Amino acid sequence: MIPKIGVCYYPEHWPEDIWAEDAARMVETGITWVRIGEFAWSRLEPAPGTFDWGWLDRAIEVLGKAGLQVVLGTPTATPPRWMIDKQPDMLAIDARGHPRKFGSRRHYCFSHLGYREESRRITQLMAERYGKNPCIQAWQTDNEYACHDTTVSYSPAAASGFRDWLAQRYQSTDALNRAWGNVFWSMEYDDFADIDPPNLTVTEANHPHQLAFARYSSDQVIAFNRVQCDEIRKYSDAPIIHNFMGGEVSFDHFALSRDLDITSWDSYPIGFLSDRITATPDFKAQFLRQGHPDNQAFHHDIYRAAGAMRTGDAPAHGRWWVMEQQPGPVNWAPWNPAPLPGMCRLWAWEAIAHGAECVSYFRWRQAPFAQEQMHAGLLRPDSEAAPALGEAAQVAREISAMGDVTAAAAPVGLVLDYDSIWAWRAQPQGADFDGFNLAFAAYSALRRSGLSIDILHPDTADLSPYKLVLAPGLLTLSEPLRTALDAYGGIALIGPRSDTKTGELSIPLPMGPNVPGLDVTAILSESIPPIADVPLDGGGRFIRWFEHLEGTADVRRKTVAGQPAIIGGAHLRYLAGWPDPDTFAAIIRDLCAEVGLEALDLPDGLRLRDTATQRFYINYAAEPVTWDGITIGGADVAWRPRT
Ligand code: GAL
Repeated sequence: MIPKIGVCYYPEHWPEDIWAEDAARMVETGITWVRIGEFAWSRLEPAPGTFDWGWLDRAIEVLGKAGLQVVLGTPTATPPRWMIDKQPDMLAIDARGHPRKFGSRRHYCFSHLGYREESRRITQLMAERYGKNPCIQAWQTDNEYACHDTTVSYSPAAASGFRDWLAQRYQSTDALNRAWGNVFWSMEYDDFADIDPPNLTVTEANHPHQLAFARYSSDQVIAFNRVQCDEIRKYSDAPIIHNFMGGEVSFDHFALSRDLDITSWDSYPIGFLSDRITATPDFKAQFLRQGHPDNQAFHHDIYRAAGAMRTGDAPAHGRWWVMEQQPGPVNWAPWNPAPLPGMCRLWAWEAIAHGAECVSYFRWRQAPFAQEQMHAGLLRPDSEAAPALGEAAQVAREISAMGDVTAAAAPVGLVLDYDSIWAWRAQPQGADFDGFNLAFAAYSALRRSGLSIDILHPDTADLSPYKLVLAPGLLTLSEPLRTALDAYGGIALIGPRSDTKTGELSIPLPMGPNVPGLDVTAILSESIPPIADVPLDGGGRFIRWFEHLEGTADVRRKTVAGQPAIIGGAHLRYLAGWPDPDTFAAIIRDLCAEVGLEALDLPDGLRLRDTATQRFYINYAAEPVTWDGITIGGADVAWRPRT
């Protein structure tokens, strides 16, 4: 596969007479894909039933004539103002019961069937009109589902949809009461109609009630998206993509990806480090202008796995893109520093090394107006080149020189489960316990050892391609995974906090984990505040979380106090706590030594990624580093053929 460079473009923001020049400059930069349309509803349908397709027809023609391939977005993330008059109760309602009003974007409730029909209608009109247009080579549904915390809504539509969903899932209120343990505090129901979404309760709502609402809400996003995919496929054979948002896990991205031909995600490394990544102030200062050295790769691997959901024939190796790549300072994080020179090239190459078919920069020209006027583009508002333009052009030139990039098989698998993340968000038990962060901590430890990693769906039934598998924080192990573990010949490190609950977020009896061939029980769990830790015998420490384990399995590591820290046999092990980053990396190196994998101890900021033919050296540090006999500049990337 020859990777491509793309850009996000908003013809409706610019006078028509500059479109052709913009398109020519894109082509000159080496760009081949351009995404348009995803926020343009008010210009396509200025009043209900009154359409203006002319400008979009012409924009597509101009871009197509220049030789660009177009990704056309459905505009459903931005319903126009008139929509609120047409569907007055379509606004999402927040957890405090307040409507999320018009005046920005994503102001709709996924459960609102009237709005779902409006979204189907506009999608159908676009698909009918452009489905056979040769310039339209891909579609994007909506934009960043869940962005701005929009998966969950507590509207009347959501309440009524939730009750139907519960009735279908549990069949009787008796079954629901039993599953949720509603005898506790006299919370029993005798009619589904009495069950509300779990907001505005006096103290925390029952955890399974919260988890059920998270599951219901995720299902609504998937149903909403499916309506658009079905509509597009009636009129077009072009692949359908959605641009997932980095760090956003409030719906099941694997499940939604079953309806997509290609997955993609939006990568804002500096914004994410500032806004949503837990790290020490020193670490944040060190990578202020580069982003977390593992966060992008983690997401690349997630979407490579999600991209395989529809075809299912190449687990962990599906089709995926970066649909939006940060080009300079963004506007939305608490602080918005500029990237170091070189980072807009490094990020693109890192994505390519992980198998991205396209890296598309957001956006072509910085808008001089509205909410994102402080957000950089490849061009400045005055159309002069911004720093990222040259870096994008360099990537395009380098791609032509390199040619084919083929993904390599990764030796390590890491299981990721959205449902478990929601479960622990409902019941964190410690203020800083987060299932996504735990998976990321495991990923980061693997990356520091120089390993290439596949992210695995929780129903993965065959672990044989991997020498090492990590399964942290899984609410329960699925039956396929349990069977796969039973047959597994490598080493699987399960836990912490895995298989210790039922699927309804209660404690199973016998208590978990209940993994065949691993006699261990977590008899008590502690959460540990940042002021304390659990030191391990021989060095290292657990932070945040520690389970007291009992069982006959071999104790392989102990805490200083003599309690089991890692326990298990030749193939299946259980990890009792959340290791700090250095401890986690050391644990990984020990496991690698056992399974015969080369594990490195990479310098801060240097990361490796193998493709079938190349080894990439990606240096997130600001200073040069020498490794394997080559010197990689600060904020720079190098590669050479694999030996
Ligand atoms: C993304 C979004 C884009 C734009 C961008 C700014 O989350 O999809 O439309 O807002 O952020 O960084």
